[in-house]
Amino acid sequence: MEVVIRPDAYAAGRTAAGIVQQALADGVTTLGLATGSSLLQVYRDLARRHRHEGLSFSGVDAFLLDEYVGLPALDPQALAQEIRRELTDHVDLDPARLHLPSGTAPDPAAEARRIEQRLTEAGPVGLQLLDIGVNGHIGFNEPGSSLASRTRLKTLTDDTRREHARFFGGIADVPRHVITQGLATIGQASHLVLIATGPHKAGAVTAAVEGPVTAACPASVLQLHPHVTVVVDELAASRL
Ligand code: GLP
Repeated sequence: MEVVIRPDAYAAGRTAAGIVQQALADGVTTLGLATGSSLLQVYRDLARRHRHEGLSFSGVDAFLLDEYVGLPALDPQALAQEIRRELTDHVDLDPARLHLPSGTAPDPAAEARRIEQRLTEAGPVGLQLLDIGVNGHIGFNEPGSSLASRTRLKTLTDDTRREHARFFGGIADVPRHVITQGLATIGQASHLVLIATGPHKAGAVTAAVEGPVTAACPASVLQLHPHVTVVVDELAASRL
C-alpha cells in the first residue's frame, strides 16, 4: 500500500485525478466510481482535464459502487444523480456505459446479483476510486461487513444515517437500506485508489492503514490487496 500525503484537498484531488488520467492513458477501460465529499476535488480536476487537456472517457465503462434503496435514479439525493452532477455530466463518458445499481428494483437481491454479473462480464475494474466513511466504510460496507462480501442489500448503521442526514431533510428521510458492492467485489479491481480529506477522516484513515485487518473497519481489507494507493491531505493524515 502506498500512502501519498498532500497539503490540502485540492492537491489530493489533483494527485488522484492524475492517477486516473495515467490509468486511462495506459489502456484501462473499466473504471469504478464512488461518491463522497473527498472525491469532489478529484471529479472537479477530472472535468478540468477533460476540458483543457483532452482527457477522454470515450470507450470507458464506469460502475458506481452503491445506491440507496427506494430512491429513483433521478432523485437529487440518489448517488446516481450525485455522480452525474459531480462527474459524468462534465466529461464524455457515454451515459449508456455508466452502470448504476437501481434503487427502485422490485427485488434488491436480484439487482445485486445483476450488478455482480455485469462486473463479471466487464472483466476486472482497472481502477476503482474509493472514499471512506468516518466509521471506516467503503462503498456502503458498514462495520461488521464480511471481508468476503459480494454485492448485496445492506442496512445502514444509525451513525451513517445521522452522518448523511445533512444531505436529506433530516435523519428520518435518510433511506435505511442500500445496495453496495461487497468488499470482495471491490477487491477484484486491479488498482484501488482511496481518497480521504479533512480532519474528520483522520481516525478512519489510521484504522484502515495501520490498524488490524478487521470487519470492524471495513477499509482495513485494503491492506490485503496487492495494489492500493491512499491519497490523503495533511488533515486526514494527522493521526498516521
Ligand atoms: C457515502 C458513500 C461512501 C463514502 C462516504 C463518505 O457514504 N457511499 O462510499 O465513503 O459517502 O462520504 P463523505 O466523504 O461525504 O463523508
